[in-house]
Parts: sequence; C-alpha cells; structure tokens
Amino acid sequence: MSTSIIGAAVNRVDGPLKVSGKAQYAVDHTLENLAYGVGVASSVGNARVVRVDASEAERMPGVLAVLYHGNTPPLYRPAERLEHSRAGEIRPPFEDDQVYYYGQYVALAIAKTLEQATAAAEKVKVQYEVRKPAVLLSEAGKPEGPPRVHSSRGDAGGAYESAAVKIDETYTIPVEVHNPMEMHAAIAQWEGEKLTLYATTQGVLNYRKVLAEVMGVPLEDVRVISPFCGSGFGGKLFPWPESMLAALGAQHVKRPVRVQVPRSMMFTTVGHRPLTKQRMRLGATTDGKLVSIQHDVEQPTSMVDEYVEYCTGVTTMLYDCANVETRQDLVRLNVGTPTPMRGPGIVPGMFPLESAMDELAVKLNMDPIALRLKNYAETDPSANLPWSSKHLRECYQRGAEKFGWAKRNPKAGSMRQGDEILGWGMSTSTWHAGRGGATVRVRLNADGTARASCATQDIGTGTYTIFAQVVSEKTGIVLDKIQVVLGDSTLPPGPMSGGSTVTATVLPAIAKAADQAVQRLLEAAAMTPGSPFFTEDRANAPKLAMTSGWVHEADKPYNSGVPFDEILIARRLAALDGEATTEPDRAAQEHYSFHSFGAQFMEVAWDPGIARLRVTRALTVIDAGKIINKKAGTNQILGAVAMGIGMAMFEEAIYDPRTGKPINNNFADYLVATNADVPRLECDFIEYPDYYLNEYGARGIGEIGLAGVAPALTMAIYHATGVRVRTLPFRVEDAIGGERATIV
Ligand code: MOS
Repeated sequence: MSTSIIGAAVNRVDGPLKVSGKAQYAVDHTLENLAYGVGVASSVGNARVVRVDASEAERMPGVLAVLYHGNTPPLYRPAERLEHSRAGEIRPPFEDDQVYYYGQYVALAIAKTLEQATAAAEKVKVQYEVRKPAVLLSEAGKPEGPPRVHSSRGDAGGAYESAAVKIDETYTIPVEVHNPMEMHAAIAQWEGEKLTLYATTQGVLNYRKVLAEVMGVPLEDVRVISPFCGSGFGGKLFPWPESMLAALGAQHVKRPVRVQVPRSMMFTTVGHRPLTKQRMRLGATTDGKLVSIQHDVEQPTSMVDEYVEYCTGVTTMLYDCANVETRQDLVRLNVGTPTPMRGPGIVPGMFPLESAMDELAVKLNMDPIALRLKNYAETDPSANLPWSSKHLRECYQRGAEKFGWAKRNPKAGSMRQGDEILGWGMSTSTWHAGRGGATVRVRLNADGTARASCATQDIGTGTYTIFAQVVSEKTGIVLDKIQVVLGDSTLPPGPMSGGSTVTATVLPAIAKAADQAVQRLLEAAAMTPGSPFFTEDRANAPKLAMTSGWVHEADKPYNSGVPFDEILIARRLAALDGEATTEPDRAAQEHYSFHSFGAQFMEVAWDPGIARLRVTRALTVIDAGKIINKKAGTNQILGAVAMGIGMAMFEEAIYDPRTGKPINNNFADYLVATNADVPRLECDFIEYPDYYLNEYGARGIGEIGLAGVAPALTMAIYHATGVRVRTLPFRVEDAIGGERATIV
C-alpha cells in the first residue's frame, strides 16, 4: 500500500468549491422568509441606558421588531466551567441596562431586508447616563485581587541581585484585532422547539452547547452548521453576541434571522488580543548562562469577564534556568472581553522574552544563537519532564546556514548595501503540542466513493484535505472520490479548531475508522455469495486486502481482485461504515512534555535618507514532527509570518479615551501587512515524527509560525538602526528619533 500521500504537497480538496464561489459560508445560506437583524452599538464606553426610543424605527418600512433590554425576555447565561461550554462574553446581550464598553449591542433592529434593518437601526434613539470610561491602561485601577498567575522555582529575586549581568526592561503589546476576512455572522432558524444556526465558528459543538444554554433549550434541540469558515484566528473559538441575537430575534419574529457583524464591530464585540505590559528581568553570568528570569505581566480585561492572556507559561519552559518567577495581574477597562488570538499567551510572551535575550546578547557582546544554545533546555524545566521530541538545535543550525548568519556583523548599523542598511534578527519559536479525543466515521459507498465525517471544522487550514489524505492512504481510493463532511454539530464529535491541535487529534481517529470500514468490507467479501472471494471454508480463506480501491488476495497484485464497490453491490449494500473514537495516550502525556519548536530569521532594510524601513527576508525553520500536507503546512507557516509582520510593524487598535471607541475600526486605518509589506517568505520543516503524540508523528502548526516573528523583527530593526523597539508596533518615528504621535 502506498503511503506517499501522507506528507505530500496535496492541493486542497475544497479548493475548487472555494475558488468557484460554491463554498457556503454562514451568510451564503439562503432561507425562505429570511429577515435581517442589524445591531445598534453603544456610542459610549461606560453608561446606563436610560431609555431606548424605537418608535420611529418601528414605523419604518419592512421593520419587524426592535429588541432591547426591557422589551425582550432575558437570555440565560452560558454554564461555562460547570458544563465545559464557553461563550466569548459571559454576559448575554441585553442582560441589564449597563454599557460596559463602546460598541456593545444595545438594540437589534429586525427587518425584511438588510437595507431596511440598517436604516431602522440608525433611527433607534438611545439615551445614556454617561460615565467616564476607563480605556487606557493608565486609567485602570490597581490590580484587583491576587495575581492570576504566580509561579516560582528557585530564588529568582536573590539570583538576580547577585547576577553579573542584568537586563530590566518593559515591553508593551497593544490591542490587536483578529480581523478574519469573513466577519462573524449567524443565521438562526426555529422550527418549533428546534433551533438551527448557520454560523461561522471554530467549534460547532461548543457553539451548540452555549446556544442551548443561553436559549434555555435541550442540547439535542440545537444544531449548528458551519461547513466553511473564512478563518478565525481564535476570534471564532467561542460564540459572541451576534449568535444569541440571531436566535433571540428569530424566536421573536418567528422567521429565520441573520445577524452579521460589520467590520467596525469586529473591533469591539468579538474579542481581541489584550494589551499587555510586560516587565522582563534577566540575570546572567558574564559568559551568558541565565541565572534568573522574572516576568511580570499587567493586562486589562473587560468589566464583565476575567480573561487572562497567559504570557508567562513560555518563560518557564523555553530556557534552562534554575531561578524563575512569573506573575500576572489583571486590571479592568471599559473594553470588550479579550479572547485567544493566534498563539495566545505564547506569542505575546515570546516578544519580551526573546527581545530581552537579544538585549542580553548585545550587552554580553555574544552571538544571539550562541546565547540561546548556552541556555538550551535539554528537558522541560517547568515540568521536569523529557521532551517528546525536540530538535531546536537543528532548527537554529539549518536556519543560520540558509540565512547566511555567519556573515552577520553584529555591530548595529554596520551592514550597508547601497543606500540601505541591513538589519538581521532571529528568534526561537515554540508552541505546545496538544491532542484531544475525536470520533470519526468513514463510509465506503457502493458507487465507488468514500465519505469521512466529523464534527470538527476546516477554518481554512486544510483539515478537509488531511481527512481525505488519510482515507486515501488507508483505502487507495483517489482523493476526488472521497467526500469529507465537517462543520455540523450532528456529526460524530470532533475537536474545536483551536490551539493547533486538530491534525494531531483527528489523524488517529480517521485512520482507525478507515481501517474498520475496510475490515468490514473484507469480511463482506469473504461471506457474500456472488463475491469473487466468497468461500464456505472460512478457516482456510485467503487473507484479503484493499489496495488502490480494489479488494484482492493479500499476496496477489491488487488488479487480480475487483473494485471494492463490487463487493457492496454483491451484498446489496448501499455502504459500509467504520467508526472510531481515539483518545491521547495518557501515559505518554504524563511522561513527556509536548512542544514544537522553530527558529525564525528576519532581515530588514533601512534607508535613513528617506526614513524607509522594509522587511526584506524572512526564513522560518520548524520542528513540528511529521508534516501531513507540505502545501497546507507551508501555507500555515507563511500566513503566520505575514501576521507576525503585521504584529511587529503595523497592528494596533487605538482607542479614543473619551468614548472608548477604537478610532481605527476599519481596514483603511487599522493597518495589516499587505503584499507590499511582505517579502518572499521561506519555510523549511525538519521532520522528526513525534510518535508519542500519535502514530503519524504529527504535531500542530497553526500558531508556531507567529511566535518568533515580532522579536526577530525588532531585533533586526535594532541591528539596522541602533534603536530598540519595546512598544509594538514599530513606528518609523522610533528610528528617526522622533516622538510617537498620540491621539490625546
Ligand atoms: Mo487559536 S487562538 O487556538 O484559534
């Protein structure tokens, strides 16, 4: 049996549907009698709603209803930890008369057309009793309660005091917004007691649970359908208010209701990466051995939820250091609730850690790679466990060779190239490698096709394709005869598309389900009259196999047999199913620490004459075990690197402190990396299968490509300009010695 399809650069099986416009995203579903809900967003950041006057809006053409706190039955809260369900915000819309942040839904206008609903929403008059919002970190009160994270090993404070070389710097990452191409949206349809939601989500099962809880109906009465998702980056892990408003609205007007989130509200009501202010203290010997790491994080959350961005976890595991102390405090601001954004915790934690490592390398006059090798963690120092598989040293080596690191002159501003000065930077990258449980069904059909199904999602990463690859590997059926069905809560339970865990989670379940379907088929081949392999003498029956979609005697070539569908036809079956549930190996999880690693190298070109700084080269070398699909995998890494260029150079939600409005709440003013900002990106995988995680040896790759980009870029900027950027994103005024423009 050929296994070459695993690891090949396979085109996406869903590609044709996407490029031809046939892929159905949430708002593409057309339903009879569909009505449109348009939100009225609060124009202030901290207030009590005194009165909602919807009288004019209600009289407008096509308007079916205007809903707000006071005229609708209250929604229930999601059960959260009690039921392992999670919503983006614990507070359902319209729960009380309070406004906690700018952009919060205060009403929903429902009409027969989107235009009518939009016009009506604009005519809803909301009277507020306005209070001054706290929007900037400087306006937040003191941290409330105990630190949300506090970890300590050894004596970090004492070791720091007596360290020969010290770094003590503070780094700030602003609010970043996920901004996937497909904005959040939901269509809700009630048929009697049954609720169906067409949504865009990274987790249909959690979405179903939350909506059942919020609407107060049994779980089995709710179905969530999300076959395609225009990405999410964490912003669609949990359902946000628009999902609940669609369900509430549809219940109220007794028609299906669609609520879509406009781009402006993508900045306020569907989560963001929170601002973090992070103090990093490193103590080292004069030859570069770390003796102390202290990492303190201050981070705002919203008024209604406690979201902790776990930045300090990576600090405890990345380098070998005996004395480490971490602490995270939360403060409250009048902003929406933060949520995981690609590489949550590790990505914002890596920026101060790796930046401080570079500052230490400069102070020690030591090569940054040599400094990292000097402190290489041979085992996981945070868990006292061996790594399941770690080849970071090889990532550094391969990256340095390919990038030409040996030619680097470490002196800042020293590498001239014509009018420009080149800057080179590098960073370590990491992401924890998780795996959960999944159930998959694989069906062999009498028309010669196969089908695989699971209630997980493909959020644009290639999940459809790896399902087809594994079924093809196991059966020999060609990819275009394999149908993969995902993104529907009625399917066998599968994982949320989060944490870079889906591939490692589903591979074993697909394989086992496919094996089981093949096994049943081979049994049918032996026991069915009319089958060429039928025999009464079961004890001496030849061993059968399935290869290239054919059933044959195992020791004969496949084309001595028959196409598998002939067996099903002989038995008058429409299909045979295999179904399997797989769980991670708990013993392995207890005995090993699972992480992927990488090294990222960046080059910038700084032209001081015209104050222009460009990213000119980016190389990423990743150790993430076996890569199942080279093309989709490379695509994940390159996309993450482009996102990292945005993080380092452009992205920042800027709030007006008077109202709490993100003033750059659109793609013209919130800058993301465009093609002109992104050079040719290079990605290389070193493939050591991690068999402790699953039998394919594959770990996830969705987030690791982002982790080292910002520190490598700010290091490159320092190398080119001599200016250390500790507040993201880089601004050109940093490099020319100017003040950063502020809005107040
Ligand atoms: Mo990712 S932030 O787990 O979608």
